[in-house]
Amino acid sequence: MENNTQDLYRQYVEHAQKIADINYAAAVLDWDQETYMPVKSAAARARQTATLRGLAHRHFTDKRYGDLLQQLLDQKDFLSEKERRNVLLSKEDYDKQTKLPNAFVHELSENISRAYQSWIDARKQNDFFVFEPSLSRLVALKKQEADYFGYENHPYNALLKDYEKSASVQMLDHLFESMTQPLQKLLQKVLAKQKSIDDNFLHQHYPKDAQWNWGMYLVKELGFDLDAGRQDISEHPFTTNFSAQDVRITTRIDENDFANMTWSCIHEVGHGLYEQGLNYEDYGLPSGEFASLSIHESQSRFWENCIGRNLLFWRHYFPKLKAYFPEQLKDISVEQFYRSINKVQPSLIRTEADELTYHFHIKIRYELEKELIGGTLSAKEVKERWNELYKQDLGIDVPDDNRGCLQDVHWSHGSFGYFPTYSLGSFYAAQFWEKLKAEKPETEKEIAHGNLKNILAWLRQNIHAKGRTAGDSETICKAVTGAPLQTDAFLRYLTQKLL
Ligand code: CO
Repeated sequence: MENNTQDLYRQYVEHAQKIADINYAAAVLDWDQETYMPVKSAAARARQTATLRGLAHRHFTDKRYGDLLQQLLDQKDFLSEKERRNVLLSKEDYDKQTKLPNAFVHELSENISRAYQSWIDARKQNDFFVFEPSLSRLVALKKQEADYFGYENHPYNALLKDYEKSASVQMLDHLFESMTQPLQKLLQKVLAKQKSIDDNFLHQHYPKDAQWNWGMYLVKELGFDLDAGRQDISEHPFTTNFSAQDVRITTRIDENDFANMTWSCIHEVGHGLYEQGLNYEDYGLPSGEFASLSIHESQSRFWENCIGRNLLFWRHYFPKLKAYFPEQLKDISVEQFYRSINKVQPSLIRTEADELTYHFHIKIRYELEKELIGGTLSAKEVKERWNELYKQDLGIDVPDDNRGCLQDVHWSHGSFGYFPTYSLGSFYAAQFWEKLKAEKPETEKEIAHGNLKNILAWLRQNIHAKGRTAGDSETICKAVTGAPLQTDAFLRYLTQKLL
């Protein structure tokens, strides 16, 4: 009996790894498309990845695979705890995939292709109402998807859980509510205090080559293993991996905006370190996969903000930075540099927002999505509601649709429920950061000496190496910090930094 179970488990591993082989092969093609692919290759490349993804999907939804997983679960006594969790999670994935009828998946993906095109057109004309019919159709399909998945209390819960298992309307309402007033107050104080910050030096000419060399230096300093990954240039920075031993990060360079590359570079390194810290031995299995989108984002924001916008970090690295840009930074002190890279300013564009106002951008998108999927807001009303919320939460007038409700690609991809993971990532990061400092009081001294090894080791041990079998985000948060996610640690972190 036991032998039989181990036999079945081996069959499961083999099948799961074959699916991973195909998906990672498709990921190599996607990475190439964003970095080096010549333009004329686009049509052939679209076929190639579609074929591979279709193949992976067939293996993944194969009824025999589902039966094998069920058979294993029925014999759970003969599996180790980790093996049982792997099978459970794979079964969960299988059940979710097979809940959506093929015809629906097909219809949704066709509508997404069309919606993306109409979003591009709408952006060209700077007119939301070019996109509105597609948005309306996608919202209807997403409501249908929520019905297929099933949900409690609010249909948006089904879509949230598709990205973030432990998130719910109830949880997010509470977090955003607990954040709003303290952040508004902090914002007013900070704006009054920082009037004199002159950050013009960040917009001088920073040559491309020097920025690239500086970025590569930083990537190595932060602990990214270049024998198990690379950095390249792409239009939009991203991280992808083909195994824990091959992690690709990308960055972009703007010669007239120093901040653009450095912190997106640190951000992607944070994602990359997480991927490199996953268990290579568990390739293709849940125990070798990242835990969740929020935990992934917590790692990028931890490095980008808690470390990369930290005064102690720059006490060590600013002199090194000056060696790359002696002219541009010759009259700048580390304090002025630090204040400039942490400047707060309510603004229109989410991706350019500072650490504080960023979360109002997310809260607004969360409210809109909740209302759209809940049926209390129609697609036609999105623009008006968007502009109203920007006035209310950030105090700014939206001058046009491109800088308003057309700025993000997410909805045209059918991604409703994704935005909140960005805020959750920051909140988790701050709670981990506070815990690390309490557990290892020497941490800040180490940062001031450019010693980041113990920080990475702590993240590796507590988060990276555990993979997805450690549980959902909230389970991980409680295991690491002893408490569920709250905004308190984040508010303390920001208040201390900005005041
Ligand atoms: Co990220």
